[in-house]
Amino acid sequence: MMNSSKQNELIVSKIKDGTVIDHIPAGRALSVLRILGIKGDEGYRIALVMNVESKKIGRKDIVKIEGREIDEKEASLITLIAPSATINIIRNYEVIEKRKMEVPKLIKGLIKCPNPQCITNNDIEALSKFVTISVKPLKLKCAYCETYITEEDVIRQIL
Ligand code: CTP
Ligand code: ZN
Repeated sequence: MMNSSKQNELIVSKIKDGTVIDHIPAGRALSVLRILGIKGDEGYRIALVMNVESKKIGRKDIVKIEGREIDEKEASLITLIAPSATINIIRNYEVIEKRKMEVPKLIKGLIKCPNPQCITNNDIEALSKFVTISVKPLKLKCAYCETYITEEDVIRQIL
């Protein structure tokens, strides 16, 4: 029997240079692209693999981006919606770096505060700022009005 990583290679081949985001919880590959700000018209060659078998997490998604190495900041934002993800930086077909990121303590600008009264929704100068209260389950608190948001809220906003 073929192992699951060999089977997945039949679906989409290895890349030469770029980033492979592996072990994404099944169904969240599109949210990962959103977090990276990739709409698809930038010209990168991108492969999405969804709902394939994984030894570690049951079913998973994989995102492969040819020609773009994602940075630490982007990688840490991915942990908000895909805490199990591994980020593989590929150069000349080899994995040269494997990152397992942690949820950042502070998240600035990415997420909107759900409270319409919050200063971040009323003063165009004020950038949203959330403090991480817990990681599992994910719970963030607005640094200005103390409104809490969960992982589901983050995913709903991003999609
Ligand atoms: N990969 C790729 N192109 C390459 C090298 C690797 O698309 N040139 C992909 C692999 O298919 C895999 C991921 O990058 O999805 C990580 O590669 P590797 O570390 O070789 O695989 P594993 O050992 O299975 O990784 P892990 O231990 O993280 O499960
Ligand atoms: Zn707020």
